[in-house]
Amino acid sequence: MVLQTGGAAAQDSGTDPRDLAWSFSHLDPAIAETAYDTLGAIRRGCPVARSGELDGFVLVTGYDEIREAARASDRFSAHVDGLGAAAVVTEMREAVAPMFETDEEHHHQWRRLLQDFFTPAVAAEQEQYVRAVCREVLQELIPRSEADLAEAYTQQVPPLVIGRVLGFTELERAWLSEHARAFYGAETLTEARQAGQIYADFLLEHIHESRAHPNRDLLSQMVFSEVDGRAARDDELVKMTMLMVAAGHLTTADACATAILVLLENPVLRELVAAEAAALEAFVEELVRYEPAVAATGRTVTTETELGGVPLSPGDRLLLAWGSANRDERVFADGDVFRLDRDGAAPHLGWGAGEHRCLGRHLARVELRVMLTELLRALPGLRLQSGAAVRRTFGVIRGVAALPVQWERR
Ligand code: HEM
Repeated sequence: MVLQTGGAAAQDSGTDPRDLAWSFSHLDPAIAETAYDTLGAIRRGCPVARSGELDGFVLVTGYDEIREAARASDRFSAHVDGLGAAAVVTEMREAVAPMFETDEEHHHQWRRLLQDFFTPAVAAEQEQYVRAVCREVLQELIPRSEADLAEAYTQQVPPLVIGRVLGFTELERAWLSEHARAFYGAETLTEARQAGQIYADFLLEHIHESRAHPNRDLLSQMVFSEVDGRAARDDELVKMTMLMVAAGHLTTADACATAILVLLENPVLRELVAAEAAALEAFVEELVRYEPAVAATGRTVTTETELGGVPLSPGDRLLLAWGSANRDERVFADGDVFRLDRDGAAPHLGWGAGEHRCLGRHLARVELRVMLTELLRALPGLRLQSGAAVRRTFGVIRGVAALPVQWERR
C-alpha cells in the first residue's frame, strides 16, 4: 500500500555522473531542493566518486559502499577534517567533541559510559515531559493564526528535552537552549566565538556544580567519567556536553520540521498518521529513511584500500551520504517513494551504521512521535501559508530553515 509519493523519482540529466560528482558539495546552499536528484544520478553511475570541492573528497552514495565504510573502522577513521559533524558549525572546528569523530577504544569507552542514558526504556520515561513541553509551547501559538513552525515549535522542544536528560533544572534548560541557539545561529566567526565563550562558561559552571553535587543524570555521569585511564578534563567535558546538545537538538528539530512539511503536503497521509498510532510509528521510521536529518557525515581513510572498486590512500576524506544510501535502487525498489508499508527487510541507514550508529535514536523517535501528535491536535486546519517560501536546507544536516504555516484561530 503506497500512501504517498514524495518528490518525483530522480531524472538523470544526461550529464556524466563523474562530472556531477566532481562539482558536488553538500555544503553548497544552492543544492537543497535537488540534492537527491543529483545524488541519485551520481549513485547510479558511480557510487564512489571523487569531488573536487571542499579541497577534494570522495563522495560515497551507494548503500553497500556506505555501510562497508561505516563498519570497517580498521580502514576508515571517524575523524575527518571539515566534512563531518564539525561542519555544522563551520567556523568552530574546535567545538568537535571526543566521541563522534574518535575511533576504537577511546570511542568505545565514551559510548559505554553514556549508553545507559539512551536505552528504549529511558527514552520512554521522557515521553511525559516531551508532551508537557510541546503543550506549553503550543499553548502560546494557539491564539495566533500563523507562525514559522521551524522557529516557533520544532527548534523549541528538543533542546529542553536533551537539557533534561543532561540534568539541568527547568530554568537552566531555558538558558541552555538560548545559549546553544545563539552559538549555532552565529553568522560570523566573531559572533560564533563570543556566543561560544558564553555558552562554554555556562556549561563549565554546571560541570563544576555536578562535580560538587553529583546526581543520577548524564552530566554527572560524564563529569565522573574515566577515559584513557584518567578523569575527563573540563575542556573535554564542555565539548562533550556541546556535542550531546547539538546531536539531540539540531537533528530532531530538523527531522520534525521535515516531517511536518511532508504531512502538510500530503493530506491523506496526515489523516492516517493523526488517527492511528501504528501509522505514526511507521511514518517516523520512513521519514528517517526518506529524509534523514543527518544527511552526510565523513570518514578518513587510514590505510591503502579500495571501496566499490575505487582505490583509496591514507588521508583521503570520504563523505558518506546516508540519505542517498536510503534511496539506492539496488536495495530499495522504489527508494524515491515515501511509503508506510515497507517490510524493513533492508535496514535503512538514517540512524547511521557500525560503531557510531545513533545513540539517541530511541529518544528521537519518542520526540518525533509526540511533537507531531501534539501539533496536529493543537492547531486545527494547519496548512502552509499560501505563497510563502518554505526554506529547505541540505548539508551535514537536512532540514527546513523556515516553515511558514497558518491555522484556524479558535
Ligand atoms: C531524527 C533525529 C536523528 C537522526 C536522523 C540521527 C542520526 C545520526 C547518525 C546518522 C549518526 C551517525 C553519524 C556517523 O556515523 O557519522 C548519529 C550519531 C549520533 N547521534 Fe544521532 N540522530 C538523531 C537524533 C539524535 C538524538 C536525539 C541524540 C541525543 C543526544 C543523538 C545522539 C547521537 C550521538 C551521541 C551520536 C554519536 C554516536 C557515536 O559516535 O558513537 N542523535 N546520529
